[in-house]
Amino acid sequence: MANVTVIGGQWGDEGKGKIVDWLSSRADVVARFQGGHNAGHTLVVGEQVYKLSLLPSGIVRGTLSVIGNGVVLDPWWLKQEVEKLRGQGVSITPENFQIAETCPLILPFHRDLDALREDAIGLGKIGTTRRGIGPAYEDKVGRRAIRVCDLAHLDDLELQLDRLCAHHDALRAGFGEGPVDRERLVADLREVADFVLEFARPVWMTLNEARARGRRILFEGAQGVLLDVDHGTYPYVTSSNTIAGTAAGGTGLGPSAAGFVLGIVKAYTTRVGSGPFPTELDDAIGQRLGERGHEFGTVTGRKRRCGWFDAVLVRQSCAVSGVTGIALTKLDVLDGLDEINICTGYRLNGKTLDHFPAHSSDQAAVEPIYETVEGWSQSTAGARSWAQLPASAIKYIRRIEELIRCPVALVSTSPEREDTILVRDPFAD
Ligand code: GDP
Ligand code: IMO
Ligand code: MG
Repeated sequence: MANVTVIGGQWGDEGKGKIVDWLSSRADVVARFQGGHNAGHTLVVGEQVYKLSLLPSGIVRGTLSVIGNGVVLDPWWLKQEVEKLRGQGVSITPENFQIAETCPLILPFHRDLDALREDAIGLGKIGTTRRGIGPAYEDKVGRRAIRVCDLAHLDDLELQLDRLCAHHDALRAGFGEGPVDRERLVADLREVADFVLEFARPVWMTLNEARARGRRILFEGAQGVLLDVDHGTYPYVTSSNTIAGTAAGGTGLGPSAAGFVLGIVKAYTTRVGSGPFPTELDDAIGQRLGERGHEFGTVTGRKRRCGWFDAVLVRQSCAVSGVTGIALTKLDVLDGLDEINICTGYRLNGKTLDHFPAHSSDQAAVEPIYETVEGWSQSTAGARSWAQLPASAIKYIRRIEELIRCPVALVSTSPEREDTILVRDPFAD
């Protein structure tokens, strides 16, 4: 009856897709609960590589996959992603895929606004994925959103469009843009409506029924805790709550549904987009991590910034998200380093800190305090058991557990599905 909630423990791209795919062989339902197609989750199965942004990663194995109400949904993107996956041989039907009727839609002018704002700010820009995520969430809490269920009532949209366009036309005028083309918008929605409606369901009901029947639910988070709009490096964050606590509200289940909270954590740190990053490496080691780890964004192709493992940040992520155990990924990328640094604290204005300060200028000013541990020369790539790991790699993992005050449940040693070491089964808890 155990459920598992997977979340990113750093700034995203920790390897959530691989781990969700691996775990989904034992799940009955996989549910996305926040974010949108700003996510980019990579699954490697033999020769096939699947890149998912909006679809839950369980779909590749054919596990019932649902998009919860907490997700913002670009209907045209959805269609394109479903067609791409079908082209790779993945079956996607209303039997194995459902979308909450209450999901707010990402519309073309959300994307425009995202880009207009980023371009206008220049230096202080957030470095968003420019996919309209932030503006769509703003309209949701502003009570102006068009939602999936509205696609069945397109003849009855006038009042909603008045409210939505009054807001956006004023914003657009400020950027020197013309008003929203309402006719075109409705025509474009008409074109995609049937495709989306085929999958639209009361997902909260599906999930509550699954729970009542003792089915295992796997919640798939997107982004990472440090990008959470409340707990992350604000304002350099995404526009949703990425912590495990969102799983319930973003799907329509009670908070006790979350089950085992599995934080996915990379054995070093990466970040894409702007914002503070205390352990960032601008040197040859940072370059090496980027090359060995293929650290290029799945969504935008941008080079990811790389640095040492920051135990202070991960300890904080685990605390605010109630992480039960972590999956430590990309251990193999550290192979061949003589020494490895772990950040254990910060220095700020002559003081020592054991947590990340709240203000962004303090976040940018902290200096990491490092502990240096021994590296390993042997390869860990493809290891599937603890016994295949060199002693210093095991020591590194044990030290991380101590510093973050959270045990390791899984270790990942390559992009491939089966190259995973199971230490403690999250579903067995
Ligand atoms: P996500 O957004 O958290 O799902 O992560 P991404 O898919 O954006 O980025 C993780 C990248 O690392 C992908 O290219 C994965 O195929 C790859 N990856 C996942 N786990 C491992 C691992 O243990 N070792 C290596 N070398 N690559 C991994
Ligand atoms: P996955 O699920 C890494 C980052 C963007 C930017 C900030 C805000 O693959 O881990 P947004 O478009 O959300 O308004 O951008 O958040 N970002 C991610 N970084 N992985 C992601 O998703 C991300 N989704 C958003 O780069 O800094
Ligand atoms: Mg990603």
